[in-house]
Amino acid sequence: MQNKTISGLFVGQNIVSLKRVDSTNDYLKKQVANSKPVPEGTVILAEEQFAGRGQFDNKWLSQPGQNLTFSILLSPSFLPISQQFSLNIAISLAINDVLCSFIGSGCEIKWPNDIIFDDRKLGGVLIENIIRGTNWKYSIVGIGLNLNQTSFPASIKNITSMALIAEKEWTLNDVLAHLLTAIDRRYSQLKNGGLVLQRQEYRAKLYRLNTLAVFEREGVRFDAEIIGVTETGLLELKTADGVRCFGLKELKYI
Ligand code: BTN
Repeated sequence: MQNKTISGLFVGQNIVSLKRVDSTNDYLKKQVANSKPVPEGTVILAEEQFAGRGQFDNKWLSQPGQNLTFSILLSPSFLPISQQFSLNIAISLAINDVLCSFIGSGCEIKWPNDIIFDDRKLGGVLIENIIRGTNWKYSIVGIGLNLNQTSFPASIKNITSMALIAEKEWTLNDVLAHLLTAIDRRYSQLKNGGLVLQRQEYRAKLYRLNTLAVFEREGVRFDAEIIGVTETGLLELKTADGVRCFGLKELKYI
């Protein structure tokens, strides 16, 4: 284990680097169960995860030492529980800010928080909230971003990395420092009343916004157009039957 900091930042004031761990999200979960958890803003970074997790109980597979896999401990108690999705927005925008500056404007956010470049997945975010009673105690923000991996298991479809896109190798710590700075900025913007602005920016970055495409719900395929995201984070689609809102596990992109 190695400890570093990025000075001047709240997010990244304490970086714990681990060689090998099950999942950086699970590591932080165990920390917050302790009576004296690590401070808010702490980052757990892993060279290798042997049980990395993605959304919907998927595995997150990442070649050791090639990509970024890390989790951040936040405590967004300034937000009502009903606005949990606004943290997803702030984090997705921060990642998008950095990627747009590094690899250009092909970067989009696939609702809820996949990071996409030219129809291929470059990274993903897994936010796990810890709520005690009516209080939002902690959020564990897990981020996986493909940097230098250039070949992927055949079972993973439509995947890419920054190295494949830009045809160069990236320095992990350099990209991490940019990401933490951007997350620090977007998190503080959210804290300081930036929610409405961030919702507008998030909408503008949405993959397939205002584009007719095929979706699937409960095995039934239909054509629809993404028109936005509601305050609680539901995806708003314009369908042949009018505007419909869909939750996280309800909808598949085809
Ligand atoms: C997804 O797209 O399904 C979300 C992927 C999130 C992966 C990251 S890697 C760091 C953190 N630890 C985990 O086990 N998962 C997240």
